[in-house]
Amino acid sequence: MKVRSVKEGNTEILVPIPAEGANFAPSAAPVFYNPVMEMNRDISVAATSAFVKRMEPDPEKVITYVDALSASGIRGLRISNELGVHTTLNDWSEEACALIQQNIDNLEIDHNTVASHKNANVLLHEKHFNIVDLDPFGTPGPFLAAAARSVVNLLEVTATDTAPLCGAHLNSGIRKYAAIPFNNEYHSEMGVRMLLGKIARELSLHDKAMNPLLTHATRHYVRTYLEIKKGAKRADTMLQNMGFIAHCPQCGHRESIHGLAVPIKDNCSHCDGKNIIGGPMWLGKLHNPDFCNETITELETRNCGTKQFAIKMLELCRDELDIPMFYDQHLICKKVGVSASRIETVIQELQNRGFLASRTHFSGTSFKTDANISEIELIIADIR
Ligand SMILES: C[S@@+](CC[C@H](N)C(=O)[O-])C[C@H]1O[C@@H](n2cnc3c(N)ncnc32)[C@H](O)[C@@H]1O
Ligand SMILES: [Zn+2]
Repeated sequence: MKVRSVKEGNTEILVPIPAEGANFAPSAAPVFYNPVMEMNRDISVAATSAFVKRMEPDPEKVITYVDALSASGIRGLRISNELGVHTTLNDWSEEACALIQQNIDNLEIDHNTVASHKNANVLLHEKHFNIVDLDPFGTPGPFLAAAARSVVNLLEVTATDTAPLCGAHLNSGIRKYAAIPFNNEYHSEMGVRMLLGKIARELSLHDKAMNPLLTHATRHYVRTYLEIKKGAKRADTMLQNMGFIAHCPQCGHRESIHGLAVPIKDNCSHCDGKNIIGGPMWLGKLHNPDFCNETITELETRNCGTKQFAIKMLELCRDELDIPMFYDQHLICKKVGVSASRIETVIQELQNRGFLASRTHFSGTSFKTDANISEIELIIADIR
């Protein structure tokens, strides 16, 4: 395997060079490395560092982190090299494992870092780790049961199967997440809440509860950081965040319905149109603003290639309202028959009329608010 050197953060590692003339997709290389995911990894290092600082900084306490699906090891190697956390880098591919070992040797971090050559599910069933990272091809679904069992303090998960999560591949989403999404204007937030709903139910099997610290989505992936606490009562309380969305395609009104066995009205409480029902999904918080700030501080003080962009996105996460689901301005303008304004103007106008309103990291043309659809339409029609 031909390799080249890349540097992310303060960590220089060897990654494969894709064969010339071949399929250039990173997944076609003998060992996977995707430069496009650098921001995901920059945020990973910053968020993990912020979390490690929250875990009483007792110098005697060993904090264990596993990158359960490592490929080249770039993610876990950065955690080990830049944070000094005790790290296990696992991959079931022989070539990946050999490359990981070479990278550990080159970085001279063998005092706190080990390569592991196992099925991730076997490793996660064998051992508990303070911090578990899942960064799979596509869905994390097949690894969630083992990760939920293994994790003690922090669960970090990427999902790149946005089409099933967002309802574009409906049956695949239903099979993987045991829930029904809809593929409408807020499909990206729908995907996030489908994934979190699945993770919450896996954790509850082990009497564990999650508290989302940070969750972000792009067109290509969803990434979440979940603080974990043990206890049956806590798990019961966590499950109160599960529920459904009743959405009216006729007028755009949507309602959250908390609970797993709850009556849901067939018709829209607003225009009497026929509702469609999505879920069960996570209706709770997606972020903790303090944790977002701590992660931003880490990004500001660290050497990372995507710093500016990552900070901007985390500020949007920090400031967005915790109300499912966001509204898309363009869709509403089309219906009302007016042209779109700056998103800040719409938000200001909603706030002037006494509503809560914020931007959202999910989309630059969208906003979150507690105003209902008629109130929003009136305000948008009034903006000149
Ligand atoms: C998307 S890549 C990981 C990317 C890496 N975390 C990064 O940030 O660049 C997924 C990796 O999971 C490995 N893998 C897939 N199924 C596995 C399993 N059941 N056990 C262990 N490794 C597995 C693949 O060999 C592949 O290297
Ligand atoms: Zn309606």
